[in-house]
Amino acid sequence: MFVVVGVSGGIAAYKTVQLVRALVGGGHEVHVVPTEDALRFVGTATWEAVSRHPVTTSVHEDVAEVRHVALGTRADLVIVAPATANTLAKMAGGIADNLLGVTLLATTAPVVVAPAMHTAMWEHAATQENIATLRARGVHVVGPADGPLTGGDSGPGRMAEPDEIAAAALAVIQEADAAAAPASPAAQDLAGLTVAVSTGGTREPIDPVRFLGNRSSGRQGAEVALAAADRGATVRLVAAHVDEGVLAAAERHPLIDVVRLSTAAELETAMTDAAASADVVVMVAAVADFRVAEVSHEKIRKENGAAHLDLVENPDILAGLVAARRPGQTVVGFAAETARDDAELRERGMRKRARKGVDLLAVNRVDWDAGFEAADNAVLLIDGTDAVVAEAAGSKRAVADALWDAVLALR
Ligand code: C5P
Repeated sequence: MFVVVGVSGGIAAYKTVQLVRALVGGGHEVHVVPTEDALRFVGTATWEAVSRHPVTTSVHEDVAEVRHVALGTRADLVIVAPATANTLAKMAGGIADNLLGVTLLATTAPVVVAPAMHTAMWEHAATQENIATLRARGVHVVGPADGPLTGGDSGPGRMAEPDEIAAAALAVIQEADAAAAPASPAAQDLAGLTVAVSTGGTREPIDPVRFLGNRSSGRQGAEVALAAADRGATVRLVAAHVDEGVLAAAERHPLIDVVRLSTAAELETAMTDAAASADVVVMVAAVADFRVAEVSHEKIRKENGAAHLDLVENPDILAGLVAARRPGQTVVGFAAETARDDAELRERGMRKRARKGVDLLAVNRVDWDAGFEAADNAVLLIDGTDAVVAEAAGSKRAVADALWDAVLALR
């Protein structure tokens, strides 16, 4: 989900850092829009680091991209935390003298505000009228809580806690989705199938504190598992290392059994075990191709001279699963490739599909800044006849559903 977090100038801005982290950890693309005043409390560098996106307060940057309108129109959700009395007043009046104000006017997404101010300011008739105006327009108000304030006194005005704001915001989105969604639940077209899915990036230890790893967030594999379970399949999700929060929904799902592990060798054992009773196997995990020949049981120290690592090749787990395939079992692989254009991507995908011997290969383009941590993905699905059976782009969930459609069509 594309979330804009507006931050206005209150001391509670430091708590919003935690809110942004939680949202990013939950797989959302978060863009922070602070006001000039907010930057006195928490600076640009912090917002950029936690949101992993550039931050600006100005409507005059990126004018070519019409950033001031783009943020608002792309947003699925806008949260303003902390919302000061001043920012609430501007919102009520439709004043757009900074990037946050413009974004709020340009958006049609649900808006959640978390007010934070001194009790006297909160109770002032002006603020209360502004809040009433905003509520009447459908803005959701979280808090403020009653408790100790920065000045040493106590009363209503404390910003709600970050997890409370995140939960309220996500509930607002779920409500909006439920209202927009058709009344029937997901089709149970995978009911009766047992599915094994791997996800995340393996880590190969070097010494007790170091490892060889990769940038996989585990999101795409988690969505493949969730989509299958929502469509009625019984799922074993074998997860190597994933970003914070990525497995939360899968762990709560009654049809998903999550197994966590670390190395390629462990993943091979767990997937071989899961595949033995699976109708469909999907290898989404980014498996390290090499491991360190001899893991040092002591920390390698630079005093011991120039570092040199001997690597040995890991087994190709997917190839092993294809070789051991049960009758009627469908095996699906993923491939992340760098490619200059779609033609090269397709060409590489076809070659890899043939080499791996899988029934279906989902190939996606990766680059320094594309493919891994993002909430969205774009894949070509290539089958055993070298046909591109689908081109799926959008949220990782949409890509997962397209993958299951293709698997069903194959079976
Ligand atoms: O060859 P490449 O790493 O691009 O292949 C990607 C596919 O192969 C993915 O489905 C991945 O999970 C799987 N793989 C594997 N074992 C390896 C390397 C990749 O199963 N050692």
